[in-house]
Amino acid sequence: MNIRQATVDDLLAMQNCNLMNLPENYQMKYYFYHALSWPQLSFVAEDHKGRIVGYVLAKMEEDTDDPHGHITSLSVMRTYRRLGIAEKLMTQSQKAMLEVFNARYVSLHVRRSNRAALQLYQDTLKIHDTEEKYYADGEDAYAMRKDLRTPSNVASSSSLAKTKT
Ligand SMILES: CC(C)(COP(=O)(O)OP(=O)(O)OC[C@H]1O[C@@H](n2cnc3c(N)ncnc32)[C@H](O)[C@@H]1OP(=O)(O)O)[C@@H](O)C(=O)NCCC(=O)NCCS
Repeated sequence: MNIRQATVDDLLAMQNCNLMNLPENYQMKYYFYHALSWPQLSFVAEDHKGRIVGYVLAKMEEDTDDPHGHITSLSVMRTYRRLGIAEKLMTQSQKAMLEVFNARYVSLHVRRSNRAALQLYQDTLKIHDTEEKYYADGEDAYAMRKDLRTPSNVASSSSLAKTKT
């Protein structure tokens, strides 16, 4: 298993992985927006044949008084789960947010019912807020954050995935 920075050539496979694993999907132009604006922040996991089996799609929130990193989407194909791939993808992306953009923290949204993702994030991210009916089907989201300027946080990061922007 290889974790590496995503390139424009990976975007179709990332979109496919997203379609297979999450109800929140995006047009291809939104993937391009991430890859062209913040190429350092999105990562893929590929198997021994070079097939994309997981990704993290991430960006910077810059048009705010408080610039920070944001995880737009994270998913891992079903047969490759519980191997530590999501944790590694999150760690790489958050490290780049800090090192390249000096981000103070990372944010993300997660469904209240997403037990796997909440378990993944529980040790490192904190619930900052609850956003009622955040998702198109009416489910609430937890808005979660992690301080990136605490060295131990980046090193041991779990993280997260999400769904809308
Ligand atoms: C959530 C998701 C990304 C986790 O990916 P993963 O590669 O399996 O996660 P990891 O192997 O890195 O898991 C790290 C830790 O997270 C927790 N975790 C992950 N999946 C879990 C599950 N199904 N149940 C309970 N805990 C889980 C565990 O603590 C795990 O450590 P352990 O395996 O040593 O117990 C994956 O299940 C997925 O793609 N789900 C569908 C899409 C999704 O929900 N994305 C997140 C949106 S916010």
